[in-house]
Amino acid sequence: MAQVNNGIGIHDEASDVLQSLNKNAEALRAGNKQARDAMVSDCFRLVASLETPGEAFMRIMWTHSIYPPVIRLASDLKVFDLLKDAEGASKSSVELAKAAGADVRLMSAPPQVSILGITDKETDADSFASTEFANAMADQTYKNTLGLMTPYAASANLTTPEYFKKRDYRWPEDPMDTPVQYPTGDSGKMSFFDMMKRDDQFKGLEGLMKVWLNGRPHWSDEGAGFYPIRKRLIEGADKSPDAAFLVDVGGGHGQDFPRLLANVPETDIPGRLVLQDQPHVIAEITESSLPASVEKMGYDFFTPQPIQGARAYFMHNILHNHTDDKCKLILKQVARAMKKGYSKLLVWDVVMPDQGAGTNVCCLDWEMLTFYATSERTETEWRKLLQDPEIGLKVTDIVHYSRYDQDLIEVELA
Ligand SMILES: C[S@@+](CC[C@H](N)C(=O)[O-])C[C@H]1O[C@@H](n2cnc3c(N)ncnc32)[C@H](O)[C@@H]1O
Repeated sequence: MAQVNNGIGIHDEASDVLQSLNKNAEALRAGNKQARDAMVSDCFRLVASLETPGEAFMRIMWTHSIYPPVIRLASDLKVFDLLKDAEGASKSSVELAKAAGADVRLMSAPPQVSILGITDKETDADSFASTEFANAMADQTYKNTLGLMTPYAASANLTTPEYFKKRDYRWPEDPMDTPVQYPTGDSGKMSFFDMMKRDDQFKGLEGLMKVWLNGRPHWSDEGAGFYPIRKRLIEGADKSPDAAFLVDVGGGHGQDFPRLLANVPETDIPGRLVLQDQPHVIAEITESSLPASVEKMGYDFFTPQPIQGARAYFMHNILHNHTDDKCKLILKQVARAMKKGYSKLLVWDVVMPDQGAGTNVCCLDWEMLTFYATSERTETEWRKLLQDPEIGLKVTDIVHYSRYDQDLIEVELA
């Protein structure tokens, strides 16, 4: 029986978690990559089992809400760049303040909270060195993402209870009236996508997508036990020069292509690779950020698909942004372009399990609600949507990787 946690002794729950940690560490050593996620989850459970309710409350309500603004402040003051440029050498708050042109007292606070709070890398009383996390914050992708997260996600999360109270606790149904519009006064005026376009924040969205992908398994990673791309797509593909092999519909800046090409060398790809997104997103892509072999195409996925009969149409993080009615319009366009018995639609999105979803997946589900008035879908919901008789598609497989990841849904013409 679990003992009450008095904050002094390790209770039974902690011992159980430690056993699980050891078991998962052995699995990781034996090459099971999924065990790393389980270990991270174990570590959070371990902390929860050792903390008193008061400590847990302070960590969640206080520490967690302080991190986003302080990390943003440290980023604005170039603390992360300065520490990264120091290449492992320590910097004092005076040195950091001088370089940033900020008050030294203000300067010493953000690195303490954002660097020490996360990784404990204080070299002496007033000396700070970079960490892997801090170095990542100096990367442009993370900077762009911070630019999106702090004004939108962080503000909306704080005012979400107020939003629901004002709407008598009704479930959001209108993508133009969700918690994300509430703090900015945009309720009823525009969707989150339109807000990002107005505020020039699509680079933040693409950054967020890259951060989500960073280090996570890719659908095309057959070796890690994900989708059998060679057997299902490459074998039997039309090899003529005009044939389209894969069309990434709503592919953003093309962030999925380098991961695909890391798993399948370009010489093994039997046809054209095409990236489609809204023209203003395609226009932001720089030459160096996308493999040269990928064709870029401005396209609105609510209109007829210009590439007919591709081997695969790929949609990553697309359908979960839209309500069923909108998804059906998108799906009809792709179904009309597919060739029976040859083309596949690959949907890479979460298939929500009834129980035991990873925290990251649960948070994604909540963000879909607060940003787009949608939810991650369960298997039953996916089948109902994708197999709607009006569209003419059938689900042929669902490849599940882990409870922390999105699943690959393979679809063909019915
Ligand atoms: C959440 S992002 C996903 C990007 C990418 N597939 C990924 O997973 O990294 C959604 C993408 O859909 C694109 N999008 C939104 N509306 C669109 C439309 N009507 N036609 C084409 N693309 C659209 C956005 O510009 C954005 O790049």
